[in-house]
Amino acid sequence: MRGKFVTFEGCEGSGKSTQLKLLAEKLDAAGVDYILTREPGGSRIAERIREIILDGKNTDMCDECEALLYAAARIQLVKEKILPALQAGKLVICDRYVHSSLAYQGHARGLGEEYVAEINRFAIENCRPDLTVFLNIPPDRAFERKHGADRDDRMEQLGLEFHKKVYSGYCALMANYPEICPVDCSGSKYQTNANIWQLFVQKGIVRG
Ligand code: TYD
Repeated sequence: MRGKFVTFEGCEGSGKSTQLKLLAEKLDAAGVDYILTREPGGSRIAERIREIILDGKNTDMCDECEALLYAAARIQLVKEKILPALQAGKLVICDRYVHSSLAYQGHARGLGEEYVAEINRFAIENCRPDLTVFLNIPPDRAFERKHGADRDDRMEQLGLEFHKKVYSGYCALMANYPEICPVDCSGSKYQTNANIWQLFVQKGIVRG
């Protein structure tokens, strides 16, 4: 049987890394057979593409090139890691996926949701998530939490105004992509972790 595919989304500083770490501990304790990977990256070629995309010196990269590079990294990861793991019946957890492209390149960069969905139609090979967890925290609060942006990262250099557009992009996506489930992150990291686990049980990703 095909394994389940779960992706995580959120703005910069939404606590995704912390939540993925806490989730991994719970999955380990429950003996779940899973892989955890990330975008852009997660494979040798895709990590090379990641370096080009995020390099703070590449300020001359046009938005279309950026969108295509994310899609290129995506298909490499899908073919090399995600599909084989799903076919082996494993649970696949991915830190960011196509919804990041729709929110960042489609909405915040202004390329449009349709354009980015079209680029990605062949990049994701019908490999759609069963569940997309959206860590729902507005970017002003998230930036506050992580004490500002990393100056060497081209995407983080974009500042609060850009990240507000990313957030409203995600909110708009929820109307068209029913797999996106927002998770309340206003409590402690442990409370958020419990909210995520509850969602996993509710959606049949893990047994309760
Ligand atoms: P990363 O350091 O992994 O950020 P985070 O910890 O916030 O996930 O860098 C990934 C950056 O790339 C992040 O700013 C979001 C952005 N991104 C896009 O703009 N489009 C995409 O399709 C993906 C996957 C990521």
